[in-house]
Amino acid sequence: MVRPNGSTPAAKCRSPSEHSVAPQRRIINGRVRPESVRPQDVSQCIRPNLNASSWSLLEANCEINVEILRSCLDWQTSMSELLPLIDSFGRLHNNLRISVTDRCNIRCFYCMPAENVEFMEKSELLTFEEIERFVRVAVPLGINKLRLTGGEPLVRRELHKLVEKLAAIPGIQDIGLTTNGIMLAEQAADLYAAGLRRINVSLDALSPEKFKQFTRRDGFEKVLEGIKAAQRVGFDPVKINAVSVRGMTEEEVVPFGHFARETGADVRFIEYMPLDADNAWERGKVLFAHEIIEQLSTEIMPLIPEGQPDKNAPATDFVFEDGIGRIGFIASISQPFCMSCNRIRITADGKLRNCLFSLDETDLRPLLREGGSDAAITEAIRASVAAKKEGHEINTARFIQPDRPMYSIGG
Ligand SMILES: C[S@@+](CC[C@H](N)C(=O)[O-])C[C@H]1O[C@@H](n2cnc3c(N)ncnc32)[C@H](O)[C@@H]1O
Ligand code: SF4
Repeated sequence: MVRPNGSTPAAKCRSPSEHSVAPQRRIINGRVRPESVRPQDVSQCIRPNLNASSWSLLEANCEINVEILRSCLDWQTSMSELLPLIDSFGRLHNNLRISVTDRCNIRCFYCMPAENVEFMEKSELLTFEEIERFVRVAVPLGINKLRLTGGEPLVRRELHKLVEKLAAIPGIQDIGLTTNGIMLAEQAADLYAAGLRRINVSLDALSPEKFKQFTRRDGFEKVLEGIKAAQRVGFDPVKINAVSVRGMTEEEVVPFGHFARETGADVRFIEYMPLDADNAWERGKVLFAHEIIEQLSTEIMPLIPEGQPDKNAPATDFVFEDGIGRIGFIASISQPFCMSCNRIRITADGKLRNCLFSLDETDLRPLLREGGSDAAITEAIRASVAAKKEGHEINTARFIQPDRPMYSIGG
């Protein structure tokens, strides 16, 4: 068969009777059930992909049941709606970080300014219902892991009610929370009852004085109480996040090693990143993961790398040689893990960000607040993921620190 343009069809379709599944059984009320159309139907009938202009050509020239052809079109459309969030570097995104506020009850120097912070207006924050709607739209795109963060998420009133709403969404497999722990003792039980199971508590030092240097506030004892309360109500493990800063963290390393061994909490050191409101970050101020590994190995005992069960997890985990005490490292500066990043973020005021270090963001609040359709939100999520850059470029001269500091993005 020769087409009007002189080419021959790539594949000769078989007659309808040769198809292994009778097409009419897959048509209900004149609509083809997309899930009943199998990939082989498409490849048998349409090669290359069918588009509107080739439709009439195929119909005219091919011995094919038109219903099968239509079903193929439907199948292609529904499959493209269900495509997961894969960016142009092949990274699959299933992990959403949700910031619920930019407010905080302490002032870590690597994150917030010391004083006079301009917070978002309450009316600017997404409501719990708007957050829930967003997650419901994101789940069919493959989002199944959530982490609540901030600012300090526990200053958002009745956070456990949001956890409850999110835990009830079919398809959500995992909800985590990152907190500074100050208000954790009073909320741990409610959060656990609401369905939260994973908790990370940020604590940069094991002495009250050093804690105050990091946070510019008191509260060390409250954080310790929070950790104990979380362990008591059943969070296991509780993970401790400590930002590693040269000139400050060195004397905390060994105490943290013993803390991990004695309390069963996992301790994770996070290399200090250029996301501070004061713009004071310098590479020279980062205490690198390998230096901490060396110090722990010499001063306590050798650390053995654990296999990484989750290849997308940013932390590399180690355990002390005797099997007691787990230490992790998020080496964003010395060993960037951008190529395995599976995360997108939504800020408390509804801006979608495809990277912590992104210079662009997509404002979803108008869509969520002013009647935008699910399709429009889906489209915005897809566009954001498609535009994700290869990596953060901190180690190059091209790096530009984003305008939003960590507390207003959501770490
Ligand atoms: C922004 S905080 C939000 C949640 C909560 N307030 C807390 O501190 O856990 C999330 C995490 O980001 C970390 N973080 C903040 N600024 C950072 C920076 N410049 N470099 C590395 N980690 C940072 C914090 O230590 C914390 O573990
Ligand atoms: S790191 Fe967390 S606790 Fe510290 S100032 Fe930022 S938001 Fe607050």
